[in-house]
Amino acid sequence: MIAGKPPLQQSQLFSLKGSVLTLSILTLISFTYFSFKSLRPPLPFSPPTPQITLLPSSATGTNTTTPSQPRIVAEKKEGNVGEEQEDNDDDFFTDIYHSPKLFKLNFEEMEKKFKIYIYPDGDPKTFYQTPRKLTGKYASEGYFFQNIRESRFRTEDPDQAHLFFIPISCHKMRGKGTSYENMTIIVQNYLDGLIAKYPYWNRTLGADHFFVTCHDVGVRATEGVPFLVKNAIRVVCSPSYDVGFIPHKDVALPQVLQPFALPAGGNDVENRTSLGFWAGHRNSKIRVILARVWENDTELDISNNRISRATGHLVYQKRFYRTKFCICPGGSQVNSARITDSIHYGCVPVILSNYYDLPFNDILDWQKFAVILRESDVYQLKQILKSISHEEFVSLHNNLVKVQKHFQWNTPPVKFDAFHMVIYELWLRHHVIKY
Ligand SMILES: *[C@@H]1O[C@H](CO)[C@@H](O)[C@H](O)[C@H]1NC(C)=O
Ligand SMILES: *[C@@H]1O[C@H](CO)[C@@H](O)[C@H](O)[C@H]1NC(C)=O
Ligand SMILES: *[C@@H]1O[C@H](CO)[C@@H](O)[C@H](O)[C@H]1NC(C)=O
Ligand SMILES: *[C@@H]1O[C@H](CO)[C@@H](O)[C@H](O)[C@H]1NC(C)=O
Ligand SMILES: *[C@@H]1O[C@H](CO)[C@@H](O)[C@H](O)[C@H]1NC(C)=O
Repeated sequence: MIAGKPPLQQSQLFSLKGSVLTLSILTLISFTYFSFKSLRPPLPFSPPTPQITLLPSSATGTNTTTPSQPRIVAEKKEGNVGEEQEDNDDDFFTDIYHSPKLFKLNFEEMEKKFKIYIYPDGDPKTFYQTPRKLTGKYASEGYFFQNIRESRFRTEDPDQAHLFFIPISCHKMRGKGTSYENMTIIVQNYLDGLIAKYPYWNRTLGADHFFVTCHDVGVRATEGVPFLVKNAIRVVCSPSYDVGFIPHKDVALPQVLQPFALPAGGNDVENRTSLGFWAGHRNSKIRVILARVWENDTELDISNNRISRATGHLVYQKRFYRTKFCICPGGSQVNSARITDSIHYGCVPVILSNYYDLPFNDILDWQKFAVILRESDVYQLKQILKSISHEEFVSLHNNLVKVQKHFQWNTPPVKFDAFHMVIYELWLRHHVIKY
């Protein structure tokens, strides 16, 4: 949901961002068009017509110095068939998806056909073999590596493959004190080896190749290899533009801190008496402002600092159960495990970021289970949250419970879990890169 729904003032919008906006719309249209055009198998309904909706950014922003960024939401409207004949055989046909039928059909097709070839690991002495650890801040990377090796999508035959996985995992190198320059050289050498030995990279200059990194070490180490970053699909936990994230090519990996300390929340709105909650490090501008503006507020539970373990067992996690809205401001990275914590504990996430391509946002309609704000909305945070009616909150909460399964890793992977969602994003992208 979006706070404040002022009438759309087109002239204002267009004068603001002019050609940049037009360009991004064109890119968006062409991407949507081509990605759907390439869905070859006959679908039981007419191909979707991409429809671009311009949403005004929140009118509550007061900083006139910072021009408002209009948000662009691509709505993939389905054909006119079957709109009324919803079959409620499972909880699939809910409004958390932009296009449930398309998702379901494509997902089934993906399960049947999608094949990925994994290049052999590099020299173990260079520390970029499969991560063994499945815990910690960057667990998503480890889960992906383990899941894909065990999954039905793996093929030993590169001629069968739709995509090629380059298994670079760099965070062990950092543990050994390797400099970023040297990491880049290791990655470059490994890649040069693959390019010389196998014919696959040269066929598309890497466009049907991908790599996965949740750790910012991996982001930095690969940034030193421009043709890798430009051509291959990057699956990264930091989908912000300052790391060169290209939304139609790259994939946002959710950062999930697993295992969760406590069970999933849900259907417990009567216990959610606190309006809003945040506690964490003030390691970004927006976090400093958030703490400064709201630290003494009696309705918003904003802690200046991390809740220390000494306060009591799992006090931090238990706070999520009691709260309606959990504030998720970007930290040193735009992503944060706080978002998936909020989803897991049933606390509606409030995304407080100017630029963040949320994970799976081309499949899931985040506005149905989250509150998405710009950083300048921080000054009106309480008013915005209080203006959300109880009914709206209950609806956001109930939808949140429905998306929990998409933000969870499993070993072995389970249908529709985080692994399958990432694989599905890759499946969508393999259609657009054939030359
Ligand atoms: C980088 O690699 C060079 C050459 O192998 C080596 O001499 C140097 O010590 C390395 N630096 C770091 C910080 O690892
Ligand atoms: C791919 O192209 C590069 C640069 O042109 C070349 O050095 C390399 O040998 C090629 N790889 C193969 C397998 O032919
Ligand atoms: C609400 O909180 C109480 C006390 O912590 C707990 O016993 C109860 O199970 C919670 N209700 C729901 C629906 O989770
Ligand atoms: C919050 O309370 C502290 C201690 O009383 C005070 O120093 C600080 O200025 C207050 N902050 C705001 C934003 O009012
Ligand atoms: C809003 O404006 C104030 C004063 O000009 C400035 O200090 C602050 O950083 C701005 N906040 C954002 C989020 O741009």
